[in-house]
Amino acid sequence: MKIVRSSKEMYGLSGRWKKTGQIISLVPTMGCLHEGHLSLIHNARNASDRVIVSLFVNPMQFSQNEDFDSYPNQFKRDSELIENSGADALFCPPVEEMYSETFQTRITVSKLSRGMCGKDRPGHFDGVATVVTKLFNVTDPDVAVFGQKDFQQLVIIRQLAEDLSYNIKIIGAPIVREKDGLAMSSRNIYLDPEGRKCALCLYEAIQASKNMLRTLGEVAVETLLENTKKIVGRAGAKLEYAVIVNEFTLVPDDYINNHSILALAVKVGDSVRLIDNSKLIA
Ligand code: PAF
Repeated sequence: MKIVRSSKEMYGLSGRWKKTGQIISLVPTMGCLHEGHLSLIHNARNASDRVIVSLFVNPMQFSQNEDFDSYPNQFKRDSELIENSGADALFCPPVEEMYSETFQTRITVSKLSRGMCGKDRPGHFDGVATVVTKLFNVTDPDVAVFGQKDFQQLVIIRQLAEDLSYNIKIIGAPIVREKDGLAMSSRNIYLDPEGRKCALCLYEAIQASKNMLRTLGEVAVETLLENTKKIVGRAGAKLEYAVIVNEFTLVPDDYINNHSILALAVKVGDSVRLIDNSKLIA
């Protein structure tokens, strides 16, 4: 596996692969890898001839009160996992390579970035959209793979790719869960044993909604959201939001249909913010 730190070298490598007709995929990550990331790489492998994994903790998507400075750095472990998963290149630029001192451009996917996580994390999705645009430009992939756990991010990136006329197929890979249902996340390592138990409320709320729908056939959106609130409260977590939205537009649904997604964010303890989501009707 080639480790690439400069954009120029990355662009050159990707260009050489393209010239020989190879399909290139990109898996953007911020490191601190878990099984979920490995499944993204696996999806990328299946969809292309060459896999580029990027590892860049993007300062632009963290606000001042977030965990950029303490975001876990496990480069040795991560690069070994990436190599063992069959990636061909690891693009891991230093911050100065991505953001020069005079950097001043921002990509905003306006409507889709406003609600849900965008409300609690102002500027976050501009940071994501900007860095993903740069990663697309530097790696020039045919395919890019993102996790469905960050559902809003996935929808925003699909819109960005369409709006900016990228000829890139965006693949949304299914959420990978622990045995007890907790969605895998780099931030799970912040959970102490009590927090780990409490974090199960996200999955519990999703399962409860699906079960209600299965049993009763029709259930009002408000009833499902009320029940979600109760489950999260009972577990001792703080609900940041729970919404039922259309999976393509993120517009709140008036009634449950085949495209309805329940998405929620909770705070466990003072600082661990976790998200999860699921389609309500399979
Ligand atoms: O999902 C993530 O890990 C990040 O938001 C991404 C897409 C790598 C951009 O920094």
